[in-house]
Amino acid sequence: MCGIVGYVGAREATEVVLHGLQRLEYRGYDSAGVAIYDPVIGLQLRRSVGKLSNLQQRLLNEPTHGHIGIGHTRWATHGGVTEINAHPHRDASGAIVVIQNGIVENYLALKGRLLELGYQFESQTDTEVIAKLLGHYYNELRDLGRAMHRTLQELRGGNAIVAFCIHEPDQLVAARLGNAGGIAIGIGNDERFIASDIPAILDYTRDLIFLEDRDIAVVRRDSVTIMRLDGTPVERPIHRIAWDPVAAAKGDYRHFMQKEIDEQPRALMDVLRGRIDQEHGRIELEDLRLNDHDLRRIRRIYATACGTAWHAALVAKFMIEHLARVRVEVDYASEFRYRNPILQSDSEHDTLVLAITQSGETVDTLAAMEEARAQGVPSVAIVNAIGSQAARLADGGPIYLHAGPEIGVASTKAFTSMLVAAYLFALRLAQAHGTLKPQQIREHIQALIELPGQAAQVIEQTKPLCIELAERYHRVSNALFLGRQINYPIALEGALKLKEISYIHAEGYPAGEMKHGPIALIDENMPVICIATHDHIYEKMISNIEQVRARHGQVIAIGHQGDELLAEKAHHVIGVPTTHPLLQPVLNVIPLQMFAYHVAVLRGCDVDQPRNLAKSVTVE
Ligand code: AGP
Repeated sequence: MCGIVGYVGAREATEVVLHGLQRLEYRGYDSAGVAIYDPVIGLQLRRSVGKLSNLQQRLLNEPTHGHIGIGHTRWATHGGVTEINAHPHRDASGAIVVIQNGIVENYLALKGRLLELGYQFESQTDTEVIAKLLGHYYNELRDLGRAMHRTLQELRGGNAIVAFCIHEPDQLVAARLGNAGGIAIGIGNDERFIASDIPAILDYTRDLIFLEDRDIAVVRRDSVTIMRLDGTPVERPIHRIAWDPVAAAKGDYRHFMQKEIDEQPRALMDVLRGRIDQEHGRIELEDLRLNDHDLRRIRRIYATACGTAWHAALVAKFMIEHLARVRVEVDYASEFRYRNPILQSDSEHDTLVLAITQSGETVDTLAAMEEARAQGVPSVAIVNAIGSQAARLADGGPIYLHAGPEIGVASTKAFTSMLVAAYLFALRLAQAHGTLKPQQIREHIQALIELPGQAAQVIEQTKPLCIELAERYHRVSNALFLGRQINYPIALEGALKLKEISYIHAEGYPAGEMKHGPIALIDENMPVICIATHDHIYEKMISNIEQVRARHGQVIAIGHQGDELLAEKAHHVIGVPTTHPLLQPVLNVIPLQMFAYHVAVLRGCDVDQPRNLAKSVTVE
């Protein structure tokens, strides 16, 4: 999950590449580097360990100049976090430079062969093996596009690669093999841009071409020529991206996460836009390729995802089973394909895979979708990134979140939008299955229409208490989150948010399970966040809170405004408005996001780029 950028045109390539890397730094921030070429000065390579700001400082001291260049931000997989392992890497002649996102699974075997041929290596990376192999074939073919073609045939694993050669200084060569993050090519006026993610080039163009698996592209300032790995030429469509570049900027906010938390009311409006017809009590999902007949046949859904998106899948199970009475199984995508799932059932077409992913590039989720395709089962993807691989792999069609770019590594607005997208899908299924009549759908639509305003209320009204509680508890080293039924995944999500940005060890648990073990952890130093909004399991939740109090745990409850019983039982109550119980998780999670954010800020953590993490995980 590295960030890749390339440019060829009339502008200063260093500027364009650095700007792109700034927009991509959330993908990896162990080290960064650029390679720029100018016919007079020659090839200029600059690399540095750590944040992009270190590279920017180096470029101030040793500026580069040229109109063709590539740049990379690294999330280390092979080889330690050192300058020698930073990208770009070069071939033996030093004329070819390479950046890569992904893993060469057979790099040791290839390296062994190249060592026997007398090649030497300066780094421990798999990327340098690509560079040496490219140089090896370039010596034979004297054509970088063809050398890339030969090289790709030997690589195993998912890889996105960009390279250029000083002997062909008017072109970049980009290639995609498997699922290691996409490659977008931006079309400008007599200039071309390459990036692993849309926000990197959104300030320059909205017209993008997305490379498919096994595509090789030769990119000149005025043309893009794409060839398949089997040598056949192919045209790829140009997508016009609706996202506005401002959305990818921090504005006056200190952190993207803070901005994205505050953007949730707008994002919730955008995920609903054009999809709810209150007059007729109907739901329309514009990109869904399954009609009523297809949807009516579905009897079983496998929901699969990773991390926060997996929590959304757990919530989706409650929504779909309750509203459409269709059975849902939820799998971690990283476990899904390796458990050799039995997807097909006796009758054809009654199974669907529902993949949920913000980036649309998470390699495990993509692999789960391919497993579905291999077993002839259609998949639908709830996805944010426009034109991403998951969106293109979903033969049942994507359900876009329209949340705009999410830059903070800790997912917030994408999560609440995923819950609403899953709710819309559940209603659409119920509409096709006839488990809900138009009047009932109208009532659900009414709850949806009120949700963005209620989310704005939660942000404004609970922020002061979340900050106060963060001040009180930011020094703890453990925390427990408890919820039941549809709020158990919200307990998991609250714990994940706190873990990933404040590094406090936190666990989410079904409250009823607490007495079977984790209750042993509870003492006066343990904050226990309990989600206790009203539903059919409220009384049970109250007695769980009493069990925590009996062990002197510090109870912070998420509950309805004015809930006196809860105020009596808990040390602190964060009050949220009431909505439909199936939508309540959307409101309940927001204070948990804000609490985690302020705890991390008070602990001086790098909120937007937490250690060891990256925004989209494109390696297994
Ligand atoms: C969440 O805050 C994390 N960034 C991470 O768990 C994330 O949800 C997971 O990697 C899945 O990403 P995706 O939604 O882009 O597939």
